[in-house]
Parts: sequence; structure tokens; C-alpha cells
Amino acid sequence: MILYFSGTGNSRYVAERLGVMLDLPVVPVTDYKDSKIDASGRPVGIVCPVYFWGIPTLISEFIKKTEFQNFEKIFSVCTYGEGAGNASRMLEKEFLRKGITVTHQLEIRMPDNYVLFYKVPPKDEQMRMLNEADNYIERIPGLLAENAHKEKRSLIAPAVSAIGYPWYKYGRRTKRFRVTDECTGCSVCEAACQMNIIKMKDGRPHWTENRCERCLACVHRCPGAAIQIGRSLKHGRYLNPNIEQWQRGSL
Ligand SMILES: Cc1cc2nc3c(=O)[nH]c(=O)nc-3n(C[C@H](O)[C@H](O)[C@H](O)COP(=O)(O)O)c2cc1C
Ligand code: SF4
Ligand code: SF4
Repeated sequence: MILYFSGTGNSRYVAERLGVMLDLPVVPVTDYKDSKIDASGRPVGIVCPVYFWGIPTLISEFIKKTEFQNFEKIFSVCTYGEGAGNASRMLEKEFLRKGITVTHQLEIRMPDNYVLFYKVPPKDEQMRMLNEADNYIERIPGLLAENAHKEKRSLIAPAVSAIGYPWYKYGRRTKRFRVTDECTGCSVCEAACQMNIIKMKDGRPHWTENRCERCLACVHRCPGAAIQIGRSLKHGRYLNPNIEQWQRGSL
């Protein structure tokens, strides 16, 4: 089974391609409600984006609360924009606390969606990155056939992550989202939020919790770019072009 979390489609694309290549079912982590996974002797893969050189908090929580049984191996794939930092090791540690070794820790560079800081790369650069990502994805079945695989990590990754990750873990305030007059009340953002914390009221989105996962799905999926956060106004919007139904505005 491949379990994934994805805000703008990069991790979902990787999960879906691996599902086909490895003949494994693919399930969004947010849809998995059972407290245990019986993998029937097959591999279990976790695919997620890198957030602040670490992993999305819901992935940590999912690993903590789920019992993993009868798996051949556990592997992880982190998608990232500028640098994966300590993300794979953070995920590894969550499993180690349960006595499980993540034998294969893979990392794939893809277009960066963190528009609070970075500009979305131009289309030609996106295509170049996605082609390189495809080359890496093609190699994954071969890598999984080896006994183990870990990407090289820079020596400063743990320190960078130790400083940066708490900003994410204890931040993620929804009060930072602003909705501009471009909002048409289409409710795409409400449907896009996998945490179900956006509710439409009087034709405008409202955030019903103080904190969220910060996946930026609402920001990138809004057809009029009406949701702003930080400097996102000038930084463009991104959705993985291979996830067609997201491009069409459906789920
Ligand atoms: C809250 C947040 C934090 C991020 N932090 C990092 C980071 O520390 N390093 C990095 O390389 N990319 C970072 N990114 C970029 C994403 O990891 C990258 O674009 C990823 O492929 C997005 O996957 P998705 O399309 O499946 O959501 C961040 C994105 C978000 C939304
Ligand atoms: S997706 Fe954008 S335009 Fe549609 S309701 Fe949400 S903020 Fe408004
Ligand atoms: S509110 Fe937006 S950024 Fe936060 S979890 Fe929902 S879709 Fe993601």
C-alpha cells in the first residue's frame, strides 16, 4: 500500500506512478481511517512533501497512531523544492519509535510550492524539473530491490531542521490567510482543504481552526488566486500538471 499526503500534486503524482509501477493500492493518508495496516506481505510506502526541512505534522501523527503489520518493507519518498534537510530522518525516527526500520528513504526534487518565500519556477523550468523527477521515479523499483537506500544528507541538515522546523510545528496560523475581492465564492478552497477546516459563509471562505497543515492547497487551487498569505501575491501559483483532475478544478 502507498499512503500519501499532497497539497499541490507533486507527492500525489509520485504516489500514483509508484502505485502503477509496483502494483500497490494508493490511498491518501487523510482517507485512511483504520487504526492498523495489514500489508499482506507487500511493501508499504509513505509519500509526502518536505515542510521546513521536516515532514507534515499529520504524517508524524499518522505513523504514531497506526499499527503496521505483515509488511515486506517500509519505504519513504519525500518530495521537496530547494532542500529536503532532515525530513527522511524525521520520518525514519517516527517509525524507529515503533521498532520499525525504514529501509529505503528516497527524495525527489520537484517544483517548490512554498510561495510565502519563493516564486513558482517558470513553466520550462518546471518541465525540466518534472522530467528529472520522472527519471528518478523510473529508478525507484530498482532501488527498492536493493537491501537499503538512503539519500546523502548534508552535515548541517539536522541543525537547519532543528532551527527551522519549530517555526512550522508551532506556527501554521490560519489567521494569516487573507481573501481578496477577486473571490467569486466558488468554494473550490473548501473542497480542496483535506483537513476540512474551510467553510463557506456568506459566499466567502472562513477558517474554522486556528492552525492548519499549511499544505497551501487552498492558496494554489483558488481559480482567481484570491487567497493570499505572506508574499504569495507576487510569487505565482502551482499545481502539478500531471494531476489533471486538479487542473480542471475537481478533486
Ligand atoms: C509549508 C511548506 C514548507 C515547505 N518547506 C520546504 C523545505 O523546507 N524544503 C524544500 O525543499 N521544500 C519545501 N517546501 C516545498 C515542497 O516540499 C515541495 O514543493 C513539494 O514537492 C510539494 O509537494 P505537494 O505538491 O505534494 O504538496 C515547502 C512547502 C510548504 C507548503
Ligand atoms: S477558491 Fe478562491 S474564489 Fe473560490 S471561494 Fe475560495 S477564495 Fe473564493
Ligand atoms: S487551510 Fe489551506 S493550507 Fe491549511 S490545510 Fe486547508 S488547504 Fe491546506
